[in-house]
Amino acid sequence: MKKEKLIIFDTTMRDGEQSPGASMTKDEKLRIARQLERMRVDVIEAGFPAASDGDFDAVRAVAAIIKDSTVCGLARANEQDVRRCGEAVKGAKSPRVHTFIATSPIHMEKKLRMEPSQVIEQAVKAVKWACEYTDNVEFTPEDAGRSDMDFLCRVIERVIKAGATTINIADTVGYTLPEHFGGLIRSLRERIPNSDKAVWSAHCHNDLGLAVANSLSAVLNGARQIECTINGLGERAGNASLEEIVMAVRTRQDVFPCDTNIDTTHIVPASRLVSGITGFAVQPNKAIVGANAFAHEAGIHQDGVLKSRDTYEIMRAQDVGWISNKLVLGKHSGRNAFKVRLAELGIELPSEEALNVAFKRFKDLADKKHEIFDEDLQALISEEASENLENDYYHLISLTAHSETGEPPFAKVVVSEDGREKPAQAKGSGPVDASFKAIESIVKSGAELLLYSVNNITSGTDSQGEVTVRLSKGGRIVNGQGADTDIVVASAKAYINALNKLHSKVERLNPQV
Ligand code: KIV
Ligand code: ZN
Repeated sequence: MKKEKLIIFDTTMRDGEQSPGASMTKDEKLRIARQLERMRVDVIEAGFPAASDGDFDAVRAVAAIIKDSTVCGLARANEQDVRRCGEAVKGAKSPRVHTFIATSPIHMEKKLRMEPSQVIEQAVKAVKWACEYTDNVEFTPEDAGRSDMDFLCRVIERVIKAGATTINIADTVGYTLPEHFGGLIRSLRERIPNSDKAVWSAHCHNDLGLAVANSLSAVLNGARQIECTINGLGERAGNASLEEIVMAVRTRQDVFPCDTNIDTTHIVPASRLVSGITGFAVQPNKAIVGANAFAHEAGIHQDGVLKSRDTYEIMRAQDVGWISNKLVLGKHSGRNAFKVRLAELGIELPSEEALNVAFKRFKDLADKKHEIFDEDLQALISEEASENLENDYYHLISLTAHSETGEPPFAKVVVSEDGREKPAQAKGSGPVDASFKAIESIVKSGAELLLYSVNNITSGTDSQGEVTVRLSKGGRIVNGQGADTDIVVASAKAYINALNKLHSKVERLNPQV
């Protein structure tokens, strides 16, 4: 019997982007969107066009290039937001407008300061405005998990009548439990007379660690769209993780009456891409995409796996895109071999010129590090894309760091600031600290360092270090990344990358605040 389809709606670039420090540039969004399309995600929520001109542009750009997925934008239930969103997505081959308004007593009274009847009226108007742009309109009752059942039934019946084709039940604050959330979906579908005219969707947050469980319970109770994010990125504790939803449904086909269209072999590259762009590292024991997810450490497990894979493995690492530290290229590899390997990894560079720049970086890396793995190539491309050579205000020109037993570490740097090269030197508690102090003495950003983390990209002491630096200034939080075989250089690159993001001063609104 043919299974029903479960629609995968990815909101990494909208809800994911609402995590402090996770904001993405247009180019970063385009790279993520291409990867999601390759993975066969059904709906890509590319942003909140009313947030800023930059976000409008990014959503419009994603809409222009994506052909195999629906491209969606979010809008609050007011005319300006909905029209801005409609304009941003209207160039897509398959556009969707997603509008929302809060329906719980606490949100209506304290946040919206609206009467329930006004909320219904506004929701209906918003859906009608959205229908002027597309017949693919999604409506979300925000904080549905804490809303009154009778009121939810009234709102939803009216918005379906007004033209909404997807109804997304949001557990905005991650408060519900699987049985409760599944029951909510079931009761709404049973009680609302026109419920069969819409696809039912779930949008769960992970404040109690239940986002995936609640989403799966929704599926068992009739939801046929799940909203989720790569690596579970999202506000506070995040959203339901795409990889966990997809693999749970795929692995337990004995239980689920539906399946997704996702090409799961693109999951790990997508996870790496999002983690590289946002600087949010994936914990080693994270299901599916964590470094240890398929590592069988204990002797007894290894013995079992060697005898028969299914003793301890319920999924195959290669099915989710793990490519085990494969040696791919070396110092003598040519430009064509490099290009072919990038294509095999699903990486397309926008022009021959970009390929030449990347190839030059590859050669420089191969001089320092003899074995180049897929992970190195991915980091190299990520780094190239995150550096916007023409528009960046700061560039690291050179760095010398000195550390010696019994001597205070110091660093000398030359940074170009708006085209002018400036030298500085400083002492610090270590070479990284000294480099940051030297850079700060030039740029005088006054930013507070919230996080500094280093991960090795592959194993071994010759591995590249991937550094994330999180800075905060005047209420804005940004993340910067850098990679190099020398972790002091990687750290300085990450710091400069974060400073450039702070300098670009992109102000965005959060739709829910
Ligand atoms: O969590 C939430 O309620 C949302 C909606 C805007 C869909 O993100
Ligand atoms: Zn959300």
